[in-house]
Amino acid sequence: MIRAVISGMGGYLPEKVLTNFDLEKMVETTDAWIRERTGIESRHIAGSGETTGDLALKAATEALESAGITGADVDMIVFATTTPDETFPATATKLQAAIGAKGFAFDIQAACSGFMYALSVANHFITAGTVKNALVIGAETLSRIVDWSDRNTCVLFGDGAGAVLLTAEEAQGTIADSGVLNVILHSDGNVRDMLKSSGGVSATKTVGTIMMEGREVFRHAVTNLADVASEVLNTAGLTNADIDYLVPHQANIRIIEGTAKKLNLPMDRVIVTLPEHGNTSSASIPLALYAGVKSGKLKKGDLLLLESMGAGLTWAGGLIRL
Ligand code: ACO
Repeated sequence: MIRAVISGMGGYLPEKVLTNFDLEKMVETTDAWIRERTGIESRHIAGSGETTGDLALKAATEALESAGITGADVDMIVFATTTPDETFPATATKLQAAIGAKGFAFDIQAACSGFMYALSVANHFITAGTVKNALVIGAETLSRIVDWSDRNTCVLFGDGAGAVLLTAEEAQGTIADSGVLNVILHSDGNVRDMLKSSGGVSATKTVGTIMMEGREVFRHAVTNLADVASEVLNTAGLTNADIDYLVPHQANIRIIEGTAKKLNLPMDRVIVTLPEHGNTSSASIPLALYAGVKSGKLKKGDLLLLESMGAGLTWAGGLIRL
């Protein structure tokens, strides 16, 4: 059978860093509150005129270089973002032109689960034999849709981009294979108002800002992430003990610690970028993968459990062997 194997990775964070101490001067908050309740210490903020597409291009260029291919070898781009450069066309097509890719390119939107949704779509195209090289992007400039006067939300988010190149490879069809082993997606539109933008193209002709019932989202995250982690392991016929590393969406350190505890994984087997990145939504998992590999923690052959939860509500889990 064919598997989608990670053949390259890239990441990019804008130069400007906004610390909790900077936020103390903007809203009624403290560094201690933010660190204790979320685990976040600082986040990166895109410069004026620096767009989601610009961040993605830097991450994608690095992913192609690390794979030793050029844009012309890319057959498909799936670009997960909630903060596209324009309402249309898709930011993916801007990236396609910038790297000189052929094939086809499109955006998808599943908020903080965007990367997992993009990974699933690309995996299906590759395993169906339609595509050889797929570039999967998660990139955001959330700073553009944050209400900087709302302390409940403005302390949580940051900007960034992560890119993963998936390449079709012949495999045995066992869980010892390298590549994407499974991805399971969920959503529940009944609770969509829990985390949403206050505006939108068709509803208000504006972009809106992030609104969240934090405590409720937290409660759903803890339950849904534990459930989807069990689901991906059961589907693959594996147990907690088989996982080498958890690579979670980076929203809140207490949610990440809760999931690790349920999986019986010590925190040194969890990739955590939250203190320096904040929540970068669809960019958070590819950036965590990238950081894990760069630091030398994640190695060829490691079995990774990925999981995410975001607006929609959407949530997802998946297993990848490096
Ligand atoms: N500084 C100081 N105090 C604050 C701040 C702040 N930045 N923000 C809120 N508070 C106050 C509240 O007003 C409240 O005060 P009150 O008791 O007088 O009303 C108090 O702190 C406690 O507020 P809670 O909301 O109960 O705080 P909680 O411990 O739940 O933490 C948080 C809030 C961090 C938002 C948490 O609920 C959370 O992380 N939720 C999940 C976020 C998440 O996972 N999002 C998913 C993806 S995001 C996406 O898809 C785009």
